[in-house]
Amino acid sequence: MRPFIAPSVLASDFANLQQEIEMINKSDASYIHVDVMDGVFVPNISLGLPVVEAIKRHAEKPLDVHLMIIDPDKYLKRFKEAGASHITVHYEACNHLHRTLHEIRSLDCKAGVALNPHTPVELLKDIIHDVDLVCLMSVNPGFGGQTFIEHTYTKIENLKKLIVQTGSKAQIEIDGGVSMANAAALVEAGADILVAGNFIFTSKNPIETVNKLKNIK
Ligand code: DX5
Ligand code: ZN
Repeated sequence: MRPFIAPSVLASDFANLQQEIEMINKSDASYIHVDVMDGVFVPNISLGLPVVEAIKRHAEKPLDVHLMIIDPDKYLKRFKEAGASHITVHYEACNHLHRTLHEIRSLDCKAGVALNPHTPVELLKDIIHDVDLVCLMSVNPGFGGQTFIEHTYTKIENLKKLIVQTGSKAQIEIDGGVSMANAAALVEAGADILVAGNFIFTSKNPIETVNKLKNIK
């Protein structure tokens, strides 16, 4: 199966955001991945609601919003209103993950849960039916352009087993350090969605790069 590609705008030129979004519109990307960081859950601050709204005005692809924030429940409705179609919260940031995921679905969004590199996929056993998307962080969240963590392959395989065993329909998304060097192996291991920031936006021809990732298999 060909993967869904989600370019991460964190690596784009924020001073030319409209052009960057139009570039993604013209590519074979399936989603636009938007990283929201609060400077508390992760040691960086990226963008917030007004920027998500601005992206939405130009986007022709669904917005896959990755919330790297504490207490995400406070903002779910507002991110939906800003244009999110997928909302992903961090396992490590939620005290009542079941409630949070149900709230996301009740907003008519796809509900995602992201796991930091140190968080075992087995912790999702009792919640996997309430999840549309599991985002495996293949770097420590907070910054683009980091080195891919190889242990991610084992996590994909274990997560795939859990999904098959339980009959869950959750998709597996990989976020961090994705490039042509690992994309085929990630898809082979069971990844459905590949997020890529620097690899796409620093390439000479980003549209071609998206399309190459898409056609990796
Ligand atoms: C990291 C973010 C990623 C990041 C990926 O915290 O969640 O989405 O933009 O960037 P690259 O592909 O450059 O590692
Ligand atoms: Zn992300």
